[in-house]
Amino acid sequence: MDKIVIRGGRRLAGTVTASGSKNAALPVLVSALLADGPCTYDNVPDLRDIHSTVELLRHLGATADFAGNRVVVDPGGFCNPEAPYDLVRKMRASILVLGPILARLGRARVSLPGGCAIGARPINLHLKALARLGADIRLEHGYVTASCPRLKGADITFDIPTVGGTENLLMAAALAEGVTTLRNAAREPEIVALADALNAMGAHITGAGTATIEIQGVEALKAASQTIIADRIETGTYMVAAALTGGDVKIEGCRPDHLEAVIDKLRLTGTAVETGGDWMRVRGAPVPRGVDIKTQPYPGFPTDMQAQFMVLAAVASGSSVISETIFENRFIHVSELRRLGADIVVSGNTAVVKGQNRLSGAPVMATDLRASASLVLAGLVAEGTTEINRVYHLDRGYEDLEGKLAGLGADIRRVPAGG
Ligand code: UD1
Repeated sequence: MDKIVIRGGRRLAGTVTASGSKNAALPVLVSALLADGPCTYDNVPDLRDIHSTVELLRHLGATADFAGNRVVVDPGGFCNPEAPYDLVRKMRASILVLGPILARLGRARVSLPGGCAIGARPINLHLKALARLGADIRLEHGYVTASCPRLKGADITFDIPTVGGTENLLMAAALAEGVTTLRNAAREPEIVALADALNAMGAHITGAGTATIEIQGVEALKAASQTIIADRIETGTYMVAAALTGGDVKIEGCRPDHLEAVIDKLRLTGTAVETGGDWMRVRGAPVPRGVDIKTQPYPGFPTDMQAQFMVLAAVASGSSVISETIFENRFIHVSELRRLGADIVVSGNTAVVKGQNRLSGAPVMATDLRASASLVLAGLVAEGTTEINRVYHLDRGYEDLEGKLAGLGADIRRVPAGG
């Protein structure tokens, strides 16, 4: 497997362009299953998870082409209601096909995603909500089977805001009979992006981005085009890279309005953040200050930025308390960061990080996307060489990571397997 080798100590400077959002692209691509003709999506990031989605759409009978940063999905041949284990296990977000398959074909059979490195990540809330729309749901042989000739609108309150659950329900309810109200819905920008895509297809969705979303079901949805929004987590990762290295980085094509919690926290570390409509300039302090973080559903501080901030805390002055409230077991990067010299003590869902003057490079690996990103960030400031193994995880979520960082002056290279 490829590895990434970084020699730390370079200050990052220059301009980098944000890619399209992985987490917005996944449901939006899947939503094409609801259309009556080919849908075109631009600014789609070239990532392993997107290729997995394209493969899944093809398996279901749709035609999907990915070239440049454009994906065209023609759902004309979509008639297979089954998403098999082999495809779902590669990417948990495959569960997003459940709602659209059910709404379109009246029955669906989707493999259960199984365990995940960052906790149990169940789908009980997706299933409970689909049952409220009238679906008969069964779990057998590791699969969810759902059936219902025509879903019926309902008033649904989620026990906790779930991003994937809200997305599955938006897609299912778009073709249901009558009105669906989703309460305690997730408010992430990716939900708004999906609602926009569905509305462009002729759906009637209001309230996306708030905790209460109303969906007036329609008989059919038409083909439409959409440009994928910028990736706020990728952007946030480059912001931390700039802050960590005392750098001066401009990020173009991004959405500062999706990153307010991250910007607030970065400013508290002494980092200067200047924002415009679609750009940001981030200038790191000579020594960042520690800052306490508590992950929350949007608009709170994103769990997907927790690992990256932990690296900043690890080299900051003073101590930081980092609480993870979204996923249990999302501190898998801690043991690897400790190997680089970080002083981190974990108790339950809280990590106390005592800032150190220096980290020192070592071979490391991680079993999750954002944890791997945090190791890359650590490598940028560690003395000597850091070797990140299992690059597979980074390729799921960061488009041209090493190219973008090298463009900002990092000493980083990918070593192909066997190299
Ligand atoms: C999405 C993002 C992921 C991000 C997460 C939280 C995608 C593809 N992934 O994941 O990057 O970290 O939002 O912002 O967009 N839960 C249940 N039952 C359910 C569903 C969720 O208990 O049926 C729990 C989860 O275990 C977790 C919490 O709800 O503790 C939030 O999960 P959710 O918002 O659903 O995350 P994902 O959609 O899986």
